[in-house]
Parts: sequence; C-alpha cells; structure tokens
Amino acid sequence: MKITVITGSPHRKGTSALLADEFIRGAKEAGHSVVRFDAAFEDIHPCRACDYCITEAVGCVQKDALTSLMSQLVQTEMIVFVTPLYYFGMSAQMKTVIDRFYAVNTKIMGNKETVLLATAEDDDCRVMKSLEMHYQTIIDYLCWEHAGKVLATGCKKRKDIENTNFPQQAYLLGKSL
Ligand SMILES: Cc1cc2nc3c(=O)[nH]c(=O)nc-3n(C[C@H](O)[C@H](O)[C@H](O)COP(=O)(O)O)c2cc1C
Repeated sequence: MKITVITGSPHRKGTSALLADEFIRGAKEAGHSVVRFDAAFEDIHPCRACDYCITEAVGCVQKDALTSLMSQLVQTEMIVFVTPLYYFGMSAQMKTVIDRFYAVNTKIMGNKETVLLATAEDDDCRVMKSLEMHYQTIIDYLCWEHAGKVLATGCKKRKDIENTNFPQQAYLLGKSL
C-alpha cells in the first residue's frame, strides 16, 4: 500500500514525531511504501480563498511544497495525520495542509484510508474529543475510511512519551496494515 504520513509539529524530535517514526517503522516492516511530509519544515502557504481553483479548474495558483504533496495524495492509498494538540485541535501547520485540499477535493475524494496520531500534555481522556470530531468530520466529507488512531495524552515532552506504550501502539498499528 502507498502511505503518506503528514506531520504537523515544529519539533523534529518531539512527541508526535516519535509516533510518526514508530508508525513508519512498523508500516515499512509490513512491506508498505511510505512518503513523509513534515509540514513545519516545508515551504507551505495557507489557502487564499481566491476560488481560482474552482472557477478555472486548473488547481491551486500557489506553487509551493504542497503542489507536489497534492499530486502525491491523489495516488496515495492511506493518509496518516500526525499532530500535537493545539487548543483542542490540530496544529496550524496541519490545518494549512488540509485547507489546501480545497483545490483537489474531487481528485482525492474516496478510496483512501486514514489514521490519526496525536499527542497532548493533558492526561484527561476528554482532551482529544474536539480533535477527533474534526478529523472524523473531514474524513466523512472526503469519503475516506478511518483505519486507526493513537491518542497519546499526558505527553508534553519527549521523555514523557518515551515512558509510555504509545510509541509501541503506533508501531503495531503500522505493522498491522
Ligand atoms: C500552541 C500550543 C497549544 C497547545 N494546546 C494544548 C491543548 O489544548 N491541550 C493539551 O493537552 N496540550 C496542549 N499543548 C501541548 C502539546 O500538545 C504537547 O506538548 C505535545 O506533546 C507537543 O507535541 P510535539 O512535541 O510533537 O510538538 C499545546 C502546546 C502548544 C505549543
């Protein structure tokens, strides 16, 4: 299976990066091909809502790192969203990528599975609820199928998550595909 992993943290060695690393390790061991897009370290720009992609049907007028990612997403069979929790939602870096789906909605709709990997400082089981609801609403809209999640609560820093079994859960999820 072709898998695209999109990360949304500015921490290269942060908590969510560890979940991404472990998921990818498992998925590769299971024989899948994985492309990783670290949104925080790419030249990407938010949707300008110019609607040129709708009225002229030529795609997005902005030419940046998301141009090739969107072509990749048309082909991919699974998208893995990896984000730290920011104010009960996804990071701005991740939202920037998702808003740019606007130009390719009809090309990427359907026939994909998705995974959500997220980390948060709070250890309250309700803390990820709005993120999960947002994620589920997006994938329902795009007719994608949820294939698994790891929601690592109580993990502010790398050492916190290293002392949990969340990385192992991410590895096993990747390996199980
Ligand atoms: C701008 C910002 C907003 C945050 N909002 C929340 C939040 O709403 N709830 C929470 O539990 N943690 C929150 N955190 C903590 C991060 O989710 C947490 O430290 C996470 O492990 C960081 O992941 P990373 O190391 O992959 O960047 C926030 C952190 C930042 C920088």
